[in-house]
Amino acid sequence: MANQNNQILKNTNAQILDEFNASIMFDKELYAQDIRGSIAHSQMLAEQGILTIEEQKAIETGLLQVKNEIESGEFKFSLAYEDIHMAVETRLTEIIGEPGKRLHTARSRNDQVATDFRLYVQDKSLSIKAQLKELVDTFVSVASKHTTTLIPGMTHLQHAQPLNFGYHLLAYANMFKRDFERFESSYERNNYCPLGSAALAGTPHNINRESTSEKLGFNSPTAHAMDTVSDRDFALEILFNISTAMMHISRIAEELILWSSYEFQFVRMSDEYATTSSIMPQKKNPDVPELLRGKTGRVYGNLISLLTVMKGLPLAYNKDTQEDKEGVFDSVKTMEISISILNEVIKTMIVNVDKMQNACKIGHLSATDFADYLVQKQNMPFRTAYYLTKDVVSKANSLNKDISELNIDEIRSSNEELKDINEEILMFLDLRNSMNARTSLGGTSTSQTLSQIEVFKNWLNR
Ligand code: ARG
Repeated sequence: MANQNNQILKNTNAQILDEFNASIMFDKELYAQDIRGSIAHSQMLAEQGILTIEEQKAIETGLLQVKNEIESGEFKFSLAYEDIHMAVETRLTEIIGEPGKRLHTARSRNDQVATDFRLYVQDKSLSIKAQLKELVDTFVSVASKHTTTLIPGMTHLQHAQPLNFGYHLLAYANMFKRDFERFESSYERNNYCPLGSAALAGTPHNINRESTSEKLGFNSPTAHAMDTVSDRDFALEILFNISTAMMHISRIAEELILWSSYEFQFVRMSDEYATTSSIMPQKKNPDVPELLRGKTGRVYGNLISLLTVMKGLPLAYNKDTQEDKEGVFDSVKTMEISISILNEVIKTMIVNVDKMQNACKIGHLSATDFADYLVQKQNMPFRTAYYLTKDVVSKANSLNKDISELNIDEIRSSNEELKDINEEILMFLDLRNSMNARTSLGGTSTSQTLSQIEVFKNWLNR
């Protein structure tokens, strides 16, 4: 009885250890890259005379059959295979016999996994770039509809100076354009082929790494075999690039949540992106932007996890590295869905122009213009003008008015030194004029905003 129990325990342990050791349940995501890499490797081996033409043909046909079986759902992923590399090779050998056993010549799973994973990251960098470009396009086209819509610009979440809403949206277009460029430069930096590094030190076989690199779309082979099998910088870079883009998504999500609150009412999100409360029947909750904001935390976690996994690893490959994939898959999926949802939210949001413009009448948004006027027209030192303007703001407060609503007498009576100020100051305090006065490069005036939109359109069409 005791013996039997021990046996059961042993079997259970074996099963748990198999599960613990295996990566097949998640790295099957890499099947297409694995098969692509193996086909390129077999072609190179044939070019070098290491495989015969017939052997290579059999391998390639067999690999394509495995691919079909996986894609049709026929393929049974089993723990016995341990990982996607063993799964594909084992099935290949079942199908074609002897030549299948020759495929792994001059290759190790260490350079194989580095190649598959890098191909995956490169593929995803391209598709995420395309999505980001679409997102920039959406921000630019909504911006172009609102280049004269006033919105209070804020610092410290306090009313500061009037902007146009298009200009505000272009800030996000800039962020997502930088994200695009980050994916682009990471792609370029990492576009080198690991295949042929073998286990850690290269191989005595007469391989041609340039050939496999070219077949797989890389710029050239990596330079150092041991560095290559230990390197996961490319994975860290995509995790960082995703984290940064998600941080930007989270910031617009946060603004959407604020703007759709009762206190702001600047925008209304389409009903699809909100839910009702299970208890409060009147409610419309901004769940979708809240999830965009929330998922950002989890994407940061994936970056920190891999940085932590990598920090203490001696050279070269260590099994710890198998922990690199799940976080990347998760971050990539989160990125893809988040961009596409944000894109729809921005396209379909309803902008409450009146609410935005009325909100500009609170908080003396054109106070800086008053000081700027004194500096420009009366050659007053800015600091002196600043203190005089404070008196005008106090006057407005005492009358329960916004600075843009004061008449000339009220302005003149707010400080002895302003008693002769020209009536033209009223034009400078006008909120729309205030926004349009900011014509400096990168400023908010409608004219500047329109030229920024032109620059974006050229970029989008390049
Ligand atoms: N499943 C492994 C990984 O994801 C593949 C490489 C295994 N190499 C090894 N020497 N055990 O990292």
